[in-house]
Amino acid sequence: MRLTVIGTGYVGAVHAACMAEIGHEVLGVDVDEERVAALAAGHPPFYEPGLSGMLQRTVAAGLLRFTTSLDEAALFADTHFVCVGTPQRPDSGAADLHHVEAAVDGLAAGLRAAGHDEALVVGKSTVPAGTADLLAARLRGTGADIAWNPEFLREGSAVQDTLRPERIVAGVRSARAEARLRAVYAPLVAAGAPFIATDTVTAELVKVASNSFLATKISFINAMAEICDVLGADVLTLAEAMGTDSRIGPAFLAPGLGFGGSCLPKDIRAFTARAEEIGRGESVAFLRQVDEINTRQRLRTIGLAERFTGGSLENRDVAVLGAAFKPGSDDVRDSPALAVAEAVRRRGARVRVHDPEAVDNARAAYPDLQYALDVTKACEQADVVLHLTEWPQYRELDPAALATVVRSPAVVDARNTLDARAWRSAGWRLSAPGRPRLD
Ligand code: UDX
Repeated sequence: MRLTVIGTGYVGAVHAACMAEIGHEVLGVDVDEERVAALAAGHPPFYEPGLSGMLQRTVAAGLLRFTTSLDEAALFADTHFVCVGTPQRPDSGAADLHHVEAAVDGLAAGLRAAGHDEALVVGKSTVPAGTADLLAARLRGTGADIAWNPEFLREGSAVQDTLRPERIVAGVRSARAEARLRAVYAPLVAAGAPFIATDTVTAELVKVASNSFLATKISFINAMAEICDVLGADVLTLAEAMGTDSRIGPAFLAPGLGFGGSCLPKDIRAFTARAEEIGRGESVAFLRQVDEINTRQRLRTIGLAERFTGGSLENRDVAVLGAAFKPGSDDVRDSPALAVAEAVRRRGARVRVHDPEAVDNARAAYPDLQYALDVTKACEQADVVLHLTEWPQYRELDPAALATVVRSPAVVDARNTLDARAWRSAGWRLSAPGRPRLD
């Protein structure tokens, strides 16, 4: 089949490559000429395992091309995936839909000019429930139908998540649209992915409800960490024991610095704004607390650092391990690690940040922090080390060797993944949220 993918950010670039990989002919569209040229040469503008090779392979096979022209897109295919961003509006936290609207308007103009009347516009962007209905009005006169097919990929495993999704949710308004989406995803469904067909508003809601649930799970265990700190209990054992209950499950119960990234924080705020708009603010009032618990973990981490430095971080040297919002990614959008690093700098500390992948992005976002290309350099003469993003290589560090380069061997394991016993027997003081007995 021929498909277009409009918007080649994270979701779009991965979707375009994966659709070509399963045999479709794909045209990727973006307003950014540089990005289009880079993608055509197999260079994604972000780090994502497996993506670059897949782009190169599918471009070379003639299955994937890129353009900046929506008119060309309208002529090329009948099925158009809209994957543009829906940033958070700074005033209200609501989703800003102007990119989605511009993409749909541009495509509609192209469809009218091309005289195509069988087109299906498939939204993938995360939007407030009810958006597809509003967009349908913008397609009037084109004969195009609209569907919603939310994206659930995680950064760092985006290619796998797209090729082997745990479910495909297809929100449709016609049997023809459902048949078209079933055809697009036939190879994935044949490989076992459940295909859940529903209306567009339910499909839109599946995405925001899922992300809200995941965020709630993380904040729940972080709230329990706060309780553990006072009661002298151990949150890691608590999470492990709770997770063995098959109704709860172990995933997303890792206590620590909390969630960041381009989705969870923005999605819960946009959902809250949308619920208030429809007069159901009270139904999701708990999401405000989920958000508050989450950002509170940043202050708690700083508090643990201050305990090691006698109450103040002024004029102290602080090493920060991790800048990406999570390991396996170079994305620093809403990164809890960088928020902590910057807050510590503002308290008068000299902060040196290490990250295996995200230093360039971090430097662009936080130019006043210092950056080190290896962990030893970051830790030289440090008064305290903050472990803020749990890259697997930080678990492999030799605490005895690192103890010789710091000024004072004290580490805050804000992600609860270091081997506490090993660090302590190498002479470190170690503290971690929700594990007061380590003190
Ligand atoms: C998330 C959703 O998982 C995905 O389905 C959706 O499409 C986009 O948003 P992503 O933002 O890539 O994906 O990251 P994810 O792996 O979900 O992690 C989100 C944040 O939660 C990270 O900052 C991570 O460090 C944090 N996290 C995750 C925890 O603090 N504890 C956990 O137990 C799990």
